[in-house]
Amino acid sequence: MCGIIGIVGVEPVSGRLIETLRRLEYRGYDSAGVAGVVGGHVERRRAKGKIRELEAALAAQPLDATVGIGHTRWATHGAPSAGNAHPQTAGRVSVAHNGIIENFAALKAELQGRGRVFQSDTDTEVVAHLIDEGLAAGQEPMAALKAALDRLTGAYALAVLVEGHDDLVMGARRGSPLVVGYGEGEMFIGSDALAVGPFTKRIAYLEEGDHVAIDHGEARIFDAAGARVERPIQLVAASAALVEKGNYRHFMEKEIHDQPDACQHTLASYVDPIAGRAEAPGGFDFQAVDRLQILACGTAYYAGLIGKYLIESLAGLPVDVEVASEFRYREAAVSPDTLAVAISQSGETADTLAALRWCKERGLATAAVVNAHESSMAREAGVLWPTNAGPEICVLSTKAFTAQVSVLTALAIAAARQRGRIDEAEERRRVAILLEAPRLLAQALAVEDQVRAVSHLVARARDVLYLGRGAMFPLAMEGALKLKEVSYIHAEGYAAGEMKHGPIALIDEATPVVVVAPSDALFEKTLSNISEVMAREGPVILITDEAGAARAPPEAKLVVAPACDPLIAPLVFAVPLQLLAYQVGVFKGADVDQPRNLAKSVTVE
Ligand code: AGP
Repeated sequence: MCGIIGIVGVEPVSGRLIETLRRLEYRGYDSAGVAGVVGGHVERRRAKGKIRELEAALAAQPLDATVGIGHTRWATHGAPSAGNAHPQTAGRVSVAHNGIIENFAALKAELQGRGRVFQSDTDTEVVAHLIDEGLAAGQEPMAALKAALDRLTGAYALAVLVEGHDDLVMGARRGSPLVVGYGEGEMFIGSDALAVGPFTKRIAYLEEGDHVAIDHGEARIFDAAGARVERPIQLVAASAALVEKGNYRHFMEKEIHDQPDACQHTLASYVDPIAGRAEAPGGFDFQAVDRLQILACGTAYYAGLIGKYLIESLAGLPVDVEVASEFRYREAAVSPDTLAVAISQSGETADTLAALRWCKERGLATAAVVNAHESSMAREAGVLWPTNAGPEICVLSTKAFTAQVSVLTALAIAAARQRGRIDEAEERRRVAILLEAPRLLAQALAVEDQVRAVSHLVARARDVLYLGRGAMFPLAMEGALKLKEVSYIHAEGYAAGEMKHGPIALIDEATPVVVVAPSDALFEKTLSNISEVMAREGPVILITDEAGAARAPPEAKLVVAPACDPLIAPLVFAVPLQLLAYQVGVFKGADVDQPRNLAKSVTVE
């Protein structure tokens, strides 16, 4: 995923482009660039690496412009380099692009056949050449853009500058988001509301296939068929304040600490504390379906697996959970009475969106548990089940994860009551337990010192095993993912009962084993697994509660989390795992918020 911004402004544009790209850096950060209209000509500045490298290039060679575009990149085609950084240009045209042009190779060969010379290895450059060919044939810029769009297959959000049209930035979207910001005598386009939030609160979300021309006075929007359309202008509070770190050292630390609020704000849409009722927003009837098919990627997938444990055990409703990148291609045998549920922080993950569309095309009812309420998934799913975690900037998902689990826990209670598995009294009891989660999440943050004391054991390891039983098994996989992402240490989450069927061969004194085990009905079984590890010299870090700590073997390093009901253990015990990853990342001096090779939302396959 990449971040793009376009400004037709009245102030110098360089600083505003850099400020925006820094806010968009979480979307991709291996190279960046800007282009601006200077005295009727378009000038570019590009740099490999983080935004600070581009800032240095601009300091060395300022860009004296008030109209410009900018881009921060997560490389898909063409290695990270200044030459492959956007904007990509051809003739009079400069293009910044988020997405993948799937037919770029054929288009590139066709264009080269017409004598076009390419400067980069990117797919994006073909777009610049196609638009430039249209201009050369006498088309107006928007006609040339539309003709180029009609040749493309794949996904794009575009920002386009055309030399000789100083008061114009063009944009287009298909498969990647793009918004229009309405300022006072100036206009903006950007990848999301956060991009334009500090400049304006008045934002319109472009629809699939839309393309737009912005100038100082207006935005002219056209739909996929080329007809002029209006998109509703909304007041969006995506102010810069929402994406500042405050007193925290990293966004990851801030967002781990945001979780009590994120959980509380999310539950407010699902539970009525006075009536003691749980309800899906819009009042979905879980009696109307006979199966859920959860589709997600990465951390969201692990949230879905936790949802399976809770919904099946509480509501007796069968739940399948699958990584979207597999589901979308395997011609799954789905029954018509299945509800497809996409889970996604960004609501733009390409594989999850495609899997959701696959289900919708086959007539399944669809729902989306998403944090970005204006995202593609939010708008295309039959029902929106929002998480209200607020913007999550760190590439590693933390508060969105516990917000997703909060939603799934509330839905499990709602479905159980609707399907007659629990009565109203039991529902009130379960809701009361769930409403304890924000307080216990806050209490769990206090294990920070205990976690710091054991983080060195993990930081020096080459391989780490995470074990759990029941809903702690997917949580163990999420804990392993957090560690991998932030520290580049190989880690694997495994079912504790499954370890002896192979992975136990990995255990030695250099392989720490993190066991996440509240003192629940499975604790004794897990204690046996801990003994099996220790019998082979494996160092054990046991994340448990007071009662578990009292029964733990003395050699185990303990992290004691707050005691809680099993219903909310996946929420409460997520915090020590997140803090462990964070502390190890800090210990290793890692780039915690923007680890190498990652992007916040993978909007390409
Ligand atoms: C989470 O820490 C990862 N960055 C990644 O696995 C992420 O959860 C995954 O890419 C899904 O993103 P989404 O929730 O925006 O769909």
